[in-house]
Amino acid sequence: MSLGIFDLSGKTAMVTGATRGLGEVAALALAKAGADVAVCGRSKPDLERVPESIRSLGRKSAGFFMDVTSKKSVQDTVKYILDQFGKIDILVNNAGVNRRIPVLELSEEDWDLVITTNLKGYFLVAQAVVPQMIEGGYGKVINMSSILGTVGLPNQVAYASSKGGVDQMTKVMALEWAKKGVRVNAIGPTYFETELVAQLRNDPERFNFINDRTPMGRWGQPEELEGIVIFLAAPASDFITGQTIYIDGGWTAW
Ligand SMILES: NC(=O)c1ccc[n+]([C@@H]2O[C@H](COP(=O)([O-])OP(=O)(O)OC[C@H]3O[C@@H](n4cnc5c(N)ncnc54)[C@H](OP(=O)(O)O)[C@@H]3O)[C@@H](O)[C@H]2O)c1
Repeated sequence: MSLGIFDLSGKTAMVTGATRGLGEVAALALAKAGADVAVCGRSKPDLERVPESIRSLGRKSAGFFMDVTSKKSVQDTVKYILDQFGKIDILVNNAGVNRRIPVLELSEEDWDLVITTNLKGYFLVAQAVVPQMIEGGYGKVINMSSILGTVGLPNQVAYASSKGGVDQMTKVMALEWAKKGVRVNAIGPTYFETELVAQLRNDPERFNFINDRTPMGRWGQPEELEGIVIFLAAPASDFITGQTIYIDGGWTAW
């Protein structure tokens, strides 16, 4: 079957936080559409496991240790990826953490961890990757945001602030690079069943609140992320930039 405007053959993608959860799904989706994939994260066993499953699809892949909170780690790793793959056409900024704690109880350390990982991390990685996209005149940056970038929920002050920041960062990057061939968009998922939200998934009250709050009445399944990732990475979305696209069963339509 020809993938046509969704074909990623010959492209190289780099995905942060690809060792599990939505990042792993994104990495595999890009590979299914034809891309080679640099898998980034910190968990050593998963940095072997995920590239192995991508290679079994017939694509080139390798795992790279990268801590997105460290500028040196980011710069060294991006250089190493470029040495091995020659270029990065698609960047998925995805590595993220959360601390669900009321505003008055959240420690400065937890605030810093969430903001540094989810917001500064995306900035540092984009700064390291995008210059070679501009040089080549083409690139796609996909920032993993959240419905929490636009809606509020109690106990999510650092996380929601970081994701609101990601949406704004997406717009500014899109504007700066619009004439240079680099498109920048964000994905805003609702609750998907991954380790990040396992605690909520196992709490019947929270689980049901999320089902009730969602017009489609349920959580997202990881594989339901695949289509939007491929679309935003592919030529099919070449005239779209600066947008956050929600994948949320209708949550943000309220
Ligand atoms: N699941 C959801 O319901 C949901 C909803 C909306 C948005 N999102 C967003 O989707 C993204 C992925 O979430 P997820 O649910 O897949 O989470 P997850 O299962 O907890 O995975 C988080 C990923 O981030 C990586 N990571 C965390 N800190 C890092 C650091 N300092 N340096 C490098 N990598 C780091 C982890 O890798 P290592 O452990 O290997 O370092 C892991 O691969 C996040 O940005 C999250 O905000 C998720």
